[in-house]
Amino acid sequence: MLTQSEIELVKSTIPILESGNTAITSHFYQRMFEHNPELKHVFNLKNQAKGTQQTALFNAVLAYAKNIDNLAVLQQAVSRIAHKHTSLNIQAEHYPIVGHHLIETFRELTGDLFTPELEAAWTKAYQQLAEVFIGIEGDLYQQSAQKQGGWQGARKFILVEKRIESELVKSLVFEPADGGLVAEYKPGQYIGIQLSVAGQNYRQVRQYSLSGKANKYSYQISVKREIIEQPGIVSNYLHDGLRLGDQVELFAPSGDFYFEDKQSPVVLISAGVGLTPMQAMLETFLDAQYSQSIYNLHACQNVYQHSFKRRNEAMALKLRLTNHVWYQDTNHADYKLEALHKGFYEHHGFMDIAAIADTLPMNSADFYLCGPVGFMRFAKQQLLTLGVDEANIHYEVFGPHAEL
Ligand SMILES: Cc1cc2nc3c(=O)[nH]c(=O)nc-3n(C[C@H](O)[C@H](O)[C@H](O)COP(=O)(O)OP(=O)(O)OC[C@H]3O[C@@H](n4cnc5c(N)ncnc54)[C@H](O)[C@@H]3O)c2cc1C
Ligand code: HEM
Repeated sequence: MLTQSEIELVKSTIPILESGNTAITSHFYQRMFEHNPELKHVFNLKNQAKGTQQTALFNAVLAYAKNIDNLAVLQQAVSRIAHKHTSLNIQAEHYPIVGHHLIETFRELTGDLFTPELEAAWTKAYQQLAEVFIGIEGDLYQQSAQKQGGWQGARKFILVEKRIESELVKSLVFEPADGGLVAEYKPGQYIGIQLSVAGQNYRQVRQYSLSGKANKYSYQISVKREIIEQPGIVSNYLHDGLRLGDQVELFAPSGDFYFEDKQSPVVLISAGVGLTPMQAMLETFLDAQYSQSIYNLHACQNVYQHSFKRRNEAMALKLRLTNHVWYQDTNHADYKLEALHKGFYEHHGFMDIAAIADTLPMNSADFYLCGPVGFMRFAKQQLLTLGVDEANIHYEVFGPHAEL
């Protein structure tokens, strides 16, 4: 337990943290990778280059300093981070390394301002937070291991199927190399995948949402080929390099973004490859014959990039499901894949929830969002303006977490 004076000391550093901003976490990561290069096997170095992980860590450290006397406020954030950590197989022995580099970063960046009293208070505060994470992550690892078909750490899987879903997305199905069962998961959760890619010095770990319904034998993910300036390392490898029969290592399913059955209507809102967790939810609804109304709102570039189009139209015949799609390109009007039936609405331009709001159960539904952060911010703002309770809006970021 921190004493009152230690709490005050930690809080006194808030202005310093705020003025340093992500320069602090950038320095931290630079320092850590220089002294502990083995951690480059664990972190996605592209997220470092883009700065998104520096921002996520900075926000977490600042939020911790601000709420050090009221940790309950951080419960949701801590749970989300712990799930992320377990998908990357972070272990208790990693925490002292991170703690050491965080304290040394404070010392190097603040010089004389970092008094021995401040150092002692922050060391104790970090230890306290590390213990919270280690405890929660230990419980999550144990829960995964105890499930039927569950496991802990890296487990070898074989690629047994690869399917084209659209111009940029392929689905991949993996079965355990040991022939055993696999652990169930909640629709919306993701797995960690670890592999080596020729030409890369470090092992690569990424997360992918499971895009099918849970079954005892396999996991399906659906991967977009990423090409922004340079081809993404893992997505392109999964598309082109990994062949049927090849092996990868998977970490057990995690994630705190998942469908919670309240026997109420559901609105799924996705853009691009953000539809993958929604697909797991839809397949689960179909299997369970979910009796409530479901609205599947999706935005993508054009019909060629619309994954699972036919599948979701067909599902609408068996569920109370309405599909809405917004194609951003309007110059593909020459190619129109006619809808199979009337539960499918095609729009053009950016997604406009307000335009169909009078058909949606704004006050009784849960809203699940996934897509680029800018898209989700806009969608959330629209929902709030339309009177949706913030507590009913849930979202997943396909990268280091960001607040909407
Ligand atoms: C919880 C979670 C769930 C996810 N679920 C899915 C999913 O279901 N499907 C899916 O496809 N993805 C999903 N992702 C994203 C996935 O984990 C990877 O981040 C994604 O596939 C890109 O990885 P990569 O190795 O191909 O790209 P990286 O090599 O990590 O590169 C990242 C991005 O940067 C771009 N880039 C490369 N070089 C540069 C440069 N010099 N300048 C600017 N940009 C550059 C790349 O094109 C790429 O878009 C999920 C992520 C999370 C956190
Ligand atoms: C108290 C200490 C820690 C804090 C406050 C912290 C905080 C965070 C946060 C906020 C994220 C982003 C979460 C998200 O995207 O939802 C994250 C991700 C991550 N953390 Fe931690 N973490 C801590 C300890 C560790 C340790 C000990 C390791 C292991 C060396 C580690 C490795 C990672 C990795 C690899 C990611 C994913 C990075 C990425 O996707 O680029 N963290 N952490």
